[in-house]
Amino acid sequence: MKKFLFLFFWLPLVTFAQFTDINIIKEIHTKDKGLVVSAHPLASEAGAKIMKMGGNAFDAVIATQYALAVVYPQAGNIGGGGFLVGVKNNGEKFTLDFRETAPERASRDMYLDKNGRANTDLSQNGRLAVGVPGSVAGFFATLKYAKLPMEKLIQPAIDLADNGFALTEKEANLLNSESKNFDEYNRKTTVFQKNLPWKAGDILVQKDLAETLRRIQKSGMKGFYEGETAQLITAEMNRGNGIITLNDLKNYRVAERKPLIFNYKGHEIMSMPLPSSGGILLAQMLTMSGFENIGKYQHNSTAATQIMIEAERRAFADRAEFMGDPSFITDMTEMLISRDYLQNRWKTFNKNSATPSAAVGKITAQQSESTETTHISIIDKEGNAVAVTTTLNGLYGSKVMVSGAGFFLNNEMDDFSVKPGVPNMFGAVGGEANSIQPGKRMLSSMTPTIVLKNSKPYIIVGTPGGTTIPTSVYQSVVNTIDFGLSPNMSVNMPKFHHQWLPESVMVEKGFPETTIADLEKMNYKIERVQQIGRTEMIVIDENGNAVAVADGRGDDSVAAE
Ligand code: DON
Repeated sequence: MKKFLFLFFWLPLVTFAQFTDINIIKEIHTKDKGLVVSAHPLASEAGAKIMKMGGNAFDAVIATQYALAVVYPQAGNIGGGGFLVGVKNNGEKFTLDFRETAPERASRDMYLDKNGRANTDLSQNGRLAVGVPGSVAGFFATLKYAKLPMEKLIQPAIDLADNGFALTEKEANLLNSESKNFDEYNRKTTVFQKNLPWKAGDILVQKDLAETLRRIQKSGMKGFYEGETAQLITAEMNRGNGIITLNDLKNYRVAERKPLIFNYKGHEIMSMPLPSSGGILLAQMLTMSGFENIGKYQHNSTAATQIMIEAERRAFADRAEFMGDPSFITDMTEMLISRDYLQNRWKTFNKNSATPSAAVGKITAQQSESTETTHISIIDKEGNAVAVTTTLNGLYGSKVMVSGAGFFLNNEMDDFSVKPGVPNMFGAVGGEANSIQPGKRMLSSMTPTIVLKNSKPYIIVGTPGGTTIPTSVYQSVVNTIDFGLSPNMSVNMPKFHHQWLPESVMVEKGFPETTIADLEKMNYKIERVQQIGRTEMIVIDENGNAVAVADGRGDDSVAAE
């Protein structure tokens, strides 16, 4: 029988060994134990199990990601990419950029028709939307910080793929509703359509994926980027309009980058630098709302929300103009996060009314409307901390599964600016800085973040949600540091989002109606949405007491060592 545990209260340490199947655990309080928060209970348990076997946070994050690729195929992946932000207990801070790259045959105008019109269907769906996957290379780059061999870290995922796992109701519904898309973008019926209609408790077995994972277990990086898996990927490309070659796969490289680090109210915040916009946006937004001393207002009050919306507006206008892969553009990070620059940017703030977006950035073209990723936060008992956000971009990515290899390929090419002013699937616009070039990484919003206090990990946080990622991380940090909310409230209270363009402000179900009414009077256009983000957060106090919270918006779950 399936059991769901929704725990929102204090527990000394939850033990779940007595439950044999899916146990969703929303909150764990503990001390001196490793903690894993991820989008799926079985993935969190895989990470915790690895720590029990002697692994550290970095071992656990590898095992959790492989497990997510099996049990959370809409976003967990080996066919996508991501970013890792890590801090070792000796103070060493680092990031790994395993973002996808544009294939060598990609070009600036590859999604434009002969009249110069952008065809975002091609950048969002099917084989041409796929960027060269970086995830497996990212897992191998993480090994440098880990203790156990890859063969052990990948085993829980192989077991889950081989033996299968019980679907939750949400997963069963999702697979049923996506089946038509899988038919459209695949030649053969996929393993995800075998038992239609799926229902909660059905067992999903993925034999092809288990074989792919075994090739990685046996041959390392080559088990993915060369040999049979690489051949299966290029064969899949050749079934349609895909352009990824064997060379693209063989040449994929992870970039180890210096974290973006800035100070906020005596805390040291480390986040992802370009090619993610996440760290820069977070620094900009915190600094701008800091000018208004945001902590003196109430959480989700009119005054606080308006200040934060306006900080989001200015930061996202900069994203569209200045941000892209730092190997291809002039990196403006230092200027963009400097106090002087931001003070100047904040001069147009008017506490009585919305600032028109045209006043804070150059709008290139009339934009038209068009809308999975997953985050893991881990702390181990040695004090190592890691935040990873990884993505296929859209739900099940390009919806193209590598036939014979059992995994979905990303549709990350849509994160490039396919044409200046044309919005991507998250409504984000961009220009030259984020134009397509072979080998270039597409601009991201992923914001895996670790906040340090007295040089020790204090908050480990991140979320999926496209462009809503930096604003959700921003709000989670402000909720904790400025508004003094508990980790649970910081994660689960309704959030809001603004991104310069479109001009409207998204508010999540349950957001205070009085604040909404006040904002409307100040000329804000409100768009109500069902949910924003799926935030995974760990907060550790100065005595080492840790609270891990999995977002209540999904099947996200915490596991302890
Ligand atoms: O890198 C990015 O910013 C996007 N590809 C993330 C996509 C995402 O979060 C979708 N999840 N809901």
